[in-house]
Amino acid sequence: MNPKKLAADKAIEYVTDGMIVGLGTGSTAYWAIEALAKRVREGLNIRAVASSNHSEQLAKQGGIPLVPFSDIELIDVTIDGADEVDSQLNLIKGGGGALLREKILAANSKTFIVIVDESKKVEHLGRFPLPVEIVPFAESLTIRQIQQLDCITTIRTVEGKPFVTDNGNLIVDCEFGKILDPIELHKQLNLLPGVVENGLFPSMASKVIVGHLDGSVELIDSADSMN
Ligand code: 5RP
Repeated sequence: MNPKKLAADKAIEYVTDGMIVGLGTGSTAYWAIEALAKRVREGLNIRAVASSNHSEQLAKQGGIPLVPFSDIELIDVTIDGADEVDSQLNLIKGGGGALLREKILAANSKTFIVIVDESKKVEHLGRFPLPVEIVPFAESLTIRQIQQLDCITTIRTVEGKPFVTDNGNLIVDCEFGKILDPIELHKQLNLLPGVVENGLFPSMASKVIVGHLDGSVELIDSADSMN
């Protein structure tokens, strides 16, 4: 059994009729979008807002009714993947470059459910380079400022060209080593002019659902993880 699909199937149990649902991006969120599309075809009545052009396409193909960000005031539940999850449910996201829209959805959701396979659980964040979205016109200046926070930076490329986000920005992948204080680093990065958003999602997840290779599914609630 695919652990990403297992986690996604569990997450969509939290979606009920009439909800506005935030759709994540990536290979795990894909399974949630597919499963939701199936339920919509079976009669589930929801509206969804997508965190990327790619997820919007998937939702459209699956027949999920979509609404733009500008038409909604609150999202009932957002289901999204992550690149790393620590024991306090802090996350690194943005491996797919959709971190800005993903964070807007997460921050405006009553419930933010993160779905991962077991490989994403870590003791400390930071093995996965932290994605930071920056404005393209001040690329070098902004990167210089980020480097002063003590990290090694790499501008993300695809086939030799800079990767451009759905918002027209660039992604800088930052190697900080172990991130011991994600809240502080999150603040420091977002204070830098030229930084649009960073991939740290500290204490934002309501629940993390972990799919395991042995077929089991682990549910970690934010209330329990803080104890
Ligand atoms: C995209 C993301 C993804 O949720 C994250 O990269 C995990 O992706 P996957 O489920 O493919 O491992 O943050 O910006």
